[in-house]
Amino acid sequence: PAFPHASKMEVLFSKSRIAERVREIGAQISADYAGTSIVLIGVLKGAAIFLSDLARAIEVDNTFDFVAVSSYGRAKVSSGAVKLIKDIDNSIEGKHVILVEDILDTGLTLSYLRGMMLQHKPASLKIATCLDKPERRLVPIEADYVGFQIPNRFVVGYGMDYAEHYRNVEDIRLFPEEAVGH
Ligand code: PRP
Ligand code: MN
Ligand code: MG
Repeated sequence: PAFPHASKMEVLFSKSRIAERVREIGAQISADYAGTSIVLIGVLKGAAIFLSDLARAIEVDNTFDFVAVSSYGRAKVSSGAVKLIKDIDNSIEGKHVILVEDILDTGLTLSYLRGMMLQHKPASLKIATCLDKPERRLVPIEADYVGFQIPNRFVVGYGMDYAEHYRNVEDIRLFPEEAVGH
């Protein structure tokens, strides 16, 4: 079938392992930003699930906002062009900002957004990502908070999709390579 059931896919990180890691990152952020307020900026749509869990794992006062960028396509050779489709709703000037992503892959999305956000003169800017695929990087960018590093495999669940499906899957699972493109 075009969209095989997620239960048939190998679990890379279980729901409970993800929850444990999110609690750890939340505690780290709470310590790093103690006594301040944080603006979490999620990148639609993939980051929505991680952001909702991370925000609740952070004890420091926080607000959230979302941006949307045009997908530059999943082609092997990318133009690297990223375009902003939806900007932040509220000013981040002088604020402590954390950009939140589900996955850091080539780095094109986050390096574009980091440049954009810096123009708004935040007090500080860091990046939190649930997954990091360092092998795939096309531009030099690293996250400050990383859930898990993964090899170059196609993953779905916990916000991550295949053709918009599987975002709701609670575990992070390996999408079968033989089903890609069908
Ligand atoms: C995915 C993912 C990141 C980005 C990472 O988003 O959620 O936002 O790609 O890739 P990069 O490091 O190579 O830029 P996608 O464009 O699939 O949109 P989505 O979040 O709506 O799924
Ligand atoms: Mn995304
Ligand atoms: Mg996607």
